[in-house]
Amino acid sequence: MPRAHRRRVVGAERVGPYTLLRLDRGPLDPGAPGQFFMLEAPGRPLPRPFSLCLAPPGELAFLIEPVGPGTEALCALEPGDEIRVVGPLGRGYRLDVARPLLVGGGIGIAPLPWLSQALGRPPAVLGFRTAAHAEAAALLPGAEVVVDPVLVTDGIPSGLDLLACGPEPMLRALAARWPEAQLAWEAPMACGYGACYGCAVRIDGELKRLCVEGPVLSGHRLVCHVPGPGRETCPKEAAA
Ligand SMILES: Cc1cc2nc3c(=O)[nH]c(=O)nc-3n(C[C@H](O)[C@H](O)[C@H](O)COP(=O)(O)OP(=O)(O)OC[C@H]3O[C@@H](n4cnc5c(N)ncnc54)[C@H](O)[C@@H]3O)c2cc1C
Ligand code: FES
Repeated sequence: MPRAHRRRVVGAERVGPYTLLRLDRGPLDPGAPGQFFMLEAPGRPLPRPFSLCLAPPGELAFLIEPVGPGTEALCALEPGDEIRVVGPLGRGYRLDVARPLLVGGGIGIAPLPWLSQALGRPPAVLGFRTAAHAEAAALLPGAEVVVDPVLVTDGIPSGLDLLACGPEPMLRALAARWPEAQLAWEAPMACGYGACYGCAVRIDGELKRLCVEGPVLSGHRLVCHVPGPGRETCPKEAAA
């Protein structure tokens, strides 16, 4: 079982509707871009998974969208507060790409600043619901930004190595046109290191733990959620 480290909050800045939560890094390794950390959600029994966004000297920074009780509690943290942190976990992006293009949708921008740094600042395209959400593009200087109704998938040229993170419809659209794209998927996660099976999804028809197998998979390996309350099936399963 990976060890939990108690880390201190050194900053919590608003970036549009998101919060950039900065933690004192201590002995933690930032890991590879696309890997994630389990952060204690104050007042909640289970931690929540977050991709590393930035790794400034001595810090780990996470971009968090408040969508429920856990993320709201994390966005309310203040400098000096402490939380337990586990990671880095999972499999990140492969960096052996010749012509990278980073593609992010909404909070899917989160892992891209760290990825961009590792790849030497390749081109990037980001899509957001509103101009307020698009303020987060400041974390990835030089990125092309589109706002709904323009889709981030519109106008991507061929011949590039796509590395993407974003909502599932965006990932599925990218996988259909760029089968080799590296896509960061999501599933609810309770442990983050393979022990609870809470993140079980179908990959190529087989049940797998996304926290072990992913979260980054090459596009030809699509995630389908196991049917259940509040969980979609993949389009193929739904039609069967
Ligand atoms: C590997 C990984 C990396 C992530 N990185 C980030 C990140 O960098 N920044 C960020 O803001 N969020 C990230 N997330 C999503 C984040 O973990 C969830 O938004 C968070 O756990 C929600 O907790 P909550 O208590 O606020 O809301 P909850 O009440 O738990 O959930 C709110 C709503 O979101 C749904 N939901 C919760 N978790 C997921 C999930 N993983 N997939 C699909 N639907 C879900 C719930 O069904 C519910 O409808 C990541 C998720 C994974 C799996
Ligand atoms: S989150 Fe527990 S096995 Fe994946």
